[in-house]
Amino acid sequence: MPLTIAIDGPVGAGKSTISDVVANRLGILHLDTGAMYRAVGLYMLDNGIDPQDQDTVSSLCEGGRVLVDVRYENGSQRTLVNGEDISGRIRAQEVGQAASCVSRYPAVRRMLVRRQQEMAKDQPMLLDGRDIGTVVLKDATVKIYLTASPESRARRRMLQLREKGDTTPYEEILAEVNARDYQDTHRETDPLRRAEDAVLVDSSDLTFDETVSAILSLVEAKK
Ligand code: DC
Repeated sequence: MPLTIAIDGPVGAGKSTISDVVANRLGILHLDTGAMYRAVGLYMLDNGIDPQDQDTVSSLCEGGRVLVDVRYENGSQRTLVNGEDISGRIRAQEVGQAASCVSRYPAVRRMLVRRQQEMAKDQPMLLDGRDIGTVVLKDATVKIYLTASPESRARRRMLQLREKGDTTPYEEILAEVNARDYQDTHRETDPLRRAEDAVLVDSSDLTFDETVSAILSLVEAKK
């Protein structure tokens, strides 16, 4: 079985950026599974479908009308819906909200989990998301639950926003982090939780480089 690394954790823990660097150092591909849920959310917004409309969203996914795919260009992930590369549009706030909503539906999860498992079948890969260690790759070589306190995740998010000139108050950002945590951990289907065999990495008091090193050491120890 090829090397598989599962990194799960709450919003704002730095999973995507850290996963990118770790995968790069190991010379393997990184699959950001959140991008695939965002792609489904964006498709619904683009086509005037309310993400809350579970029946319509589910039947579109089950009927093969929303085909999400991933390709790699020079090692970096491109996410496609029905053949169109939408990577540049999935980071918007409203797309994140739509993704969080559609990710609650079993039909959406079934479709995306199947695709994620296919991709990790024959090549070494690092997957990051919410259900990788618990559902997608139950037999992953290494499982990590990457987290940080809500306050430190909110502070990091605030710094990112400030760089873009966004002045959203800290309290509002913290409330959003807490609301997203609640939604991700309380949904019925495959809620975010730490797999029993996942190693907890709390990055609240670690720098970016320290977090990357901690994860690389865990991988080295397991390889
Ligand atoms: O990690 P992210 O913010 O890009 O994820 C967007 C949404 O998708 C998030 O609200 C949770 C959901 N998601 C999920 O349910 N399962 C995954 N494996 C990845 C993301």
